Amino acid sequence: ARTAAVIPAAGRGVRLGPGAPKALRPLGGTPMLIHAIRAMAASRAVSLVVVVAPPDGAAEVRTLLDAYALPERTDFLVVPGGGSRQESVKLGLDALPTGYDIVLVHDAARPLVPVDTVDAVIEAVRDGAPAVVPALPLADTVKQVEPAAAPGDPEPVVATPDRSLLRAVQTPQGFDRATLVRAHGTVTDDVTDDASMVEQLGLTVVTVPGHEEAFKVTRPLDLVLAEAVLARRRL
Ligand code: C5P
Repeated sequence: ARTAAVIPAAGRGVRLGPGAPKALRPLGGTPMLIHAIRAMAASRAVSLVVVVAPPDGAAEVRTLLDAYALPERTDFLVVPGGGSRQESVKLGLDALPTGYDIVLVHDAARPLVPVDTVDAVIEAVRDGAPAVVPALPLADTVKQVEPAAAPGDPEPVVATPDRSLLRAVQTPQGFDRATLVRAHGTVTDDVTDDASMVEQLGLTVVTVPGHEEAFKVTRPLDLVLAEAVLARRRL
């Protein structure tokens, strides 16, 4: 079965501070999106990468891809995205040609995921799991809170889930294509990852070990960490 990777890259990245759309911000002089594309194409199994660009930015992203060296054996498509991550992923899925039975969905905001993590996800889908997520144990204890009565008020804590049973999940998340297409055609709730849509179909999602370098670049400090990881790789 052939494997394609869909990269939603249409987000503004407001939490990162003012500036260009997040995916186009440079890391080590190269746009985050290019790192993310290379991370997917680094897997021998991935033969197509679909990049979901900002709704009005497909031409710009296509030009960007042409300006960087990308693996010859991988095909690339650029499609315009939507107003939510979920919508952007759906538009990427709609653009997938036939023949790709395994689909990875990978955030452009996780530019440094190692190829071993990508391969582990693909392997687990090949072994029969309909949905696979890379996951790591949590360092922090997590509290569930009630919304504050008014903005700025303290939030009452209502529960402390057992940390040993919680996982932080990353991308790429891997799917049997038909399952992911069905999930995107059925689930209309707001979700923050694709695997949760498959959970809502009543199917079992499994984890494989995630990697600390697959962290999401969200806030300004994450850029500092990403630059440090890149510098260490270049040693
Ligand atoms: O906002 P968040 O960090 O969860 O975004 C995760 C990924 O989804 C990012 O790579 C972002 O570019 C993408 N996204 C998108 N379309 C949107 C919003 C986010 O492709 N409308």
